[in-house]
Amino acid sequence: DWLQQQPPSAWLSGPAPQARRRHNSHKGSFGDVLVIGGAPGMVGAAILAASAALHHGAGRTLLHLLNTPEFSVYPPLPDLMLPDADSARGHLAHATVVCGCGGGQAVHAWLPAVLEQAPRLVLDADALNALARDETLHHAVQARRARGHATILTPHPLEAARLLRQSTAEVQAQRLTAAQTLADNLQCTVLLKGSGSIIASPGETPHINPTGNPRLAIGGTGDVLAGILAARWQADLPAHAVASQAAWEHGALADQWPAQRALIASALAQAQLQSL
Ligand code: APR
Ligand code: MG
Repeated sequence: DWLQQQPPSAWLSGPAPQARRRHNSHKGSFGDVLVIGGAPGMVGAAILAASAALHHGAGRTLLHLLNTPEFSVYPPLPDLMLPDADSARGHLAHATVVCGCGGGQAVHAWLPAVLEQAPRLVLDADALNALARDETLHHAVQARRARGHATILTPHPLEAARLLRQSTAEVQAQRLTAAQTLADNLQCTVLLKGSGSIIASPGETPHINPTGNPRLAIGGTGDVLAGILAARWQADLPAHAVASQAAWEHGALADQWPAQRALIASALAQAQLQSL
């Protein structure tokens, strides 16, 4: 079947970050990814997103952990930068920002500034839950598009249900409609996760991702997807195509996973796609 075999580069004509680097590239050429998340007890989620960004071609990966200062002494991955809050704020206006992975309630306070400033923004997990609770933030999401700031939401069905004020069963019974409604309401790209992830954006034909399998149904794989998305989202690339490509790649990594090897999220974050 055509879709299954088609490499993602057929959809997205942009640099494949690992493969095609010009010889005179420097780390600034590939852009910064800033992950904001990881409240106490959920630090792993933010580290998984940052690790995936790191392994998928971000120039620099910055991780701001919420109220978890011990990691500034013992970095979870030495490749990561661990900005404090002031320093992280200084990166908002140019980085691709991933907000919400393991964020808990603490991520809410970041959302106004993040929505105002980040040129490319991935909202996941607790950032989506905060958005569902606080309707005053909806306008801030909607207003981004007119400023040329793009947003990708990555809800799983429960997170989408909270945003739509529906039940999870209602979302799952009409996944295409749910994703498109959210995309139109909030004027952003929605990647509704689960078997057959859906990518919807205002004015675009929605897309059903053909890759992936139930081995992904374990903790942390969604955080890895958020990191892959951010690393693949170089300046000026369209959000709908980036989301389609990242979903494809995330699922394809799981489809290529050796049967005898355990699929865990931290290994998925580091895995490389074999050429198809
Ligand atoms: N087939 C294909 N893909 C699947 C399947 C399946 N049967 N099951 C899961 N996946 C994929 C999804 O498409 C998604 O990319 O695995 C990923 C799971 O992402 P999440 O549902 O966000 O799971 P996880 O990363 O563990 O996050 C769960 O974080 O979102 C918060 O609060 C939430 O506690 C929850 C935690
Ligand atoms: Mg998740």
